[in-house]
Amino acid sequence: MPEAEVMCQEPEVDFTLIDRIIRDDFNGNREAMIMMMQAIQRHYHFLPEPALHYLSQAISVPLTKIYEVATFYASFSLIPKGKHILHVCTGTACHLKGSGGMVKHIAGKLGIAPGGTTADKKFTLETVNCLGACAVSPVVVLDEKYHPKATVGLLNELIDQVNAE
Ligand code: FES
Repeated sequence: MPEAEVMCQEPEVDFTLIDRIIRDDFNGNREAMIMMMQAIQRHYHFLPEPALHYLSQAISVPLTKIYEVATFYASFSLIPKGKHILHVCTGTACHLKGSGGMVKHIAGKLGIAPGGTTADKKFTLETVNCLGACAVSPVVVLDEKYHPKATVGLLNELIDQVNAE
């Protein structure tokens, strides 16, 4: 495993922030539990365990129910992720257009394997099976922005832009 790939340490959870999300943004309404979880994830880029415990108590929903939701939706993560998520489609159409080589290129450039997060927590590299845009394959998505007909050159540019931030 490349040296740069490490288990990310969990950040300190700011309970004032969690409280603000629960009470100010959603009025403590348990019906909004998924939106609260989305807001927590937006802030931390994953769902920290202490935040879920706090949420469970604050809206009186069993922790098991919260974990059920967290594991059901692929958009939620229980492990720390990078600030920027790079999805490379490895579905059939994209694969035929060379996305496998792009995954290898990014993995080498960032020093992580697919599914991994860089040590500086800037990037997480993920592969997906089809992004529904096969006509413009290969497709790469950086932070929810689609990049059709992606190339290694474009990937280098995207990564360099983030690194220059
Ligand atoms: S296979 Fe990549 S978008 Fe469909």
